Amino acid sequence: MKSSGNNTLNPHRNSDIKITASGLNLWYGDNHALQDINMDIHKNKITALIGPSGCGKSTYLRCINRMNDLIDNTRITGEIVIDSKNIYDADIDVVAVRKRIGMVFQQPNPFPKSIYDNISYAPLKHRLIKKGIESDELVESSLISAGLWEEVKDKLKSPGTSLSGGQQQRLCIARAIAVKPDVILMDEPTSALDPISTEKIESLMMDLKKDYTIVIVTHNMQQAHRTADYAAYFHLGNMVEYNQTETLFNSPAEALTESYISGRFG
Ligand SMILES: Nc1ncnc2c1ncn2[C@@H]1O[C@H](COP(=O)(O)OP(=O)(O)OP(=O)(O)O)[C@@H](O)[C@H]1O
Ligand SMILES: [Mg+2]
Repeated sequence: MKSSGNNTLNPHRNSDIKITASGLNLWYGDNHALQDINMDIHKNKITALIGPSGCGKSTYLRCINRMNDLIDNTRITGEIVIDSKNIYDADIDVVAVRKRIGMVFQQPNPFPKSIYDNISYAPLKHRLIKKGIESDELVESSLISAGLWEEVKDKLKSPGTSLSGGQQQRLCIARAIAVKPDVILMDEPTSALDPISTEKIESLMMDLKKDYTIVIVTHNMQQAHRTADYAAYFHLGNMVEYNQTETLFNSPAEALTESYISGRFG
């Protein structure tokens, strides 16, 4: 099965493409987990990756900030170009890549630190800001952007882990945006949350796409439909189909996509 060509999706591709995967392959030992992925991801849009369990969504997401480097016995070929630079080039500073490409995981994972320190820790470490007024301002603006400020402004010294699951996930989003990334990767960010927290995160994503390019993995078809501008269907390590979300859901070109979104498997 071949990944569908997607370079014709948008006539303005040169200016509005943030990330381009070309001929991307990944093996875990002998397991060929990503097979010749070719995909342009649009700037300031939300792109959803959907598909059955084990099809390679998280693996692909982790390729975009080189997190798979941290897993033993992986081999990657091909390119991921972000803003005209291949992040797999030998001269790339991997720490700088991970700073530009923030990640939010399925389980909220605040540091065992205060709400304030969860947000200020990395910016202080990277010397983006100084302690004091600068870090106060960054903590406030990040929490406002993540829609959490009003709920926590009077308890910034409390542990991040004392918050509810939905609040913790917004704290993790605040932490991700505090280092001023360009891209936010989200791997099933609401699957551990109740419907109200899920709704908050979804509306937050819609807000954040003004400033960030967002790639989200989700098993929730309604969520993909509601939030994403573009959607890609993965199956057994292949990207089967990629299109504007409305088109992918309403008139999928491939039988495999149609079966999945109509709930016949997965
Ligand atoms: N750390 C790892 N080491 C070895 N193999 C892995 C690792 N992570 C994933 N795999 C394998 O790679 C393939 C793709 O897995 P991946 O986690 O990317 O799927 P997924 O689409 O995110 O699935 P899910 O929806 O269940 O999260 C699977 O065959 C899986 O077993
Ligand atoms: Mg996964």
